[in-house]
Amino acid sequence: MQAFEFYSPTKIIFGPNTEAQVGQQVAVHGGSRVMVVYGGNSAIKSGLLERVLHSLDGAGLIYQCIGGVKPNPRLSLAREGLKQALAFGADFILAIGGGSVIDTAKAIADGAANPECDIWDDFWLKKIPLPGSLPVGVVLTIPAAGSESSDSAVLTNDKTHEKRGLSSPFHRPRFAIMNPELTFTLPSYQVTCGIVDIMMHTMDRYFNPVTTNALTDEIAEGLLRNTIFYGRRAMEHHADYQAMSELMWAGSLSHNGLTGLGNQPDFAPHQLGHELSAMFDVAHGASLSAIWDSWARYCANTNPSRFARFAENVWELDPVGKDANALAMEGIEATRQFFLSLNMPTCMSQLSCGVQPESVLKDLAFRCTYGNTRTIGSFRVLNYADILAIYRLANH
Ligand code: NZQ
Ligand code: ZN
Repeated sequence: MQAFEFYSPTKIIFGPNTEAQVGQQVAVHGGSRVMVVYGGNSAIKSGLLERVLHSLDGAGLIYQCIGGVKPNPRLSLAREGLKQALAFGADFILAIGGGSVIDTAKAIADGAANPECDIWDDFWLKKIPLPGSLPVGVVLTIPAAGSESSDSAVLTNDKTHEKRGLSSPFHRPRFAIMNPELTFTLPSYQVTCGIVDIMMHTMDRYFNPVTTNALTDEIAEGLLRNTIFYGRRAMEHHADYQAMSELMWAGSLSHNGLTGLGNQPDFAPHQLGHELSAMFDVAHGASLSAIWDSWARYCANTNPSRFARFAENVWELDPVGKDANALAMEGIEATRQFFLSLNMPTCMSQLSCGVQPESVLKDLAFRCTYGNTRTIGSFRVLNYADILAIYRLANH
């Protein structure tokens, strides 16, 4: 086990009707002028926005709202939110939604606390360490990205089509209100994208070069088995409270750092997927399932035993009479079949963008390596040529 620090300070308030506590929680965490951030229509249609505003009123808080955050959230809307937050004098940012809304809220909070800096140029690109941020609270409506307890925020620059993340300890929300009933209105596609993303946050940590992490590995395997089991149940019935509870909790634990403690997280599939989302605006979960199979087949021979363990402990495949390579391939195929059973893409032709010409694959690899200046991954370190090979493998 490698040395690590674990600081996951987000207060989780889990259960039915917990959104009624939001006003009180904002006040407890020092908010008085609240910038409320939400997405498209779902929070209005379900009545959630109204209930949240009612709770803020009840706590005597002043607020201003900005809606319209889209999936793969755009820098331009974060900038608009920031302008409004500064003019309003916000001292607290409240997100109502999923990863896209939460990440927009985090970016607004970063900019509002550092008005002399440019959020994209200074923090997202130059990686100047964030000196601080306004407090962010969350009312979560979809189990997926894990941003409600993670230290990262991901934005897409709508001018340059770059999708980039920024990690900072200041990005951990102060509280996350998690009422599984709020997820009952989710379309099937978003539920399945979420299941893939939850699994990938753990798998991108599990497949790494450190294999002396017994407890972390067992936590990761348990979380994956649980997500597969309840993911299947949620697919049958979205309003299954227990299934959605398990997914919601798994989503947070999968990305708050717990499933990778003492590891050297890989996250190459996430980087490969981000380029697909940046170029084609495909949903994050779909970008991951579309690339994972090719990444896994390309990288498995780096450590077949790791994939064999994954096959045995996550997919519960019988190892008897099989060598590590054969078992590894069975585990990869079981994962692919599971994604297909969720109607998730496992190659480019199943993604909305379809199969791409070689020039586009090269552009994707060029962007993923920041113009051939970086490698990605740790399980297997991937350079431009490797990345291009993986995009080619997925391009059918
Ligand atoms: O916009 P509305 O109308 O609210 O609809 C949303 C959106 O269309 C809908 N939705 C959410 N809750 C709903 C609902 N529809 C009906 N009922 C509900 N209860 O779902 C759609 C997707 O929402 P989004 O917030 O985009 O989903 P998700 O949570 O999957 O977030 C994806 C974003 O998070 C980033 C991704 O890259 C992507 O941009 N990620 C953020 C991470 C982080 N900050 O730690 C880590 C992840 O790896 C990921 O990169
Ligand atoms: Zn993700």
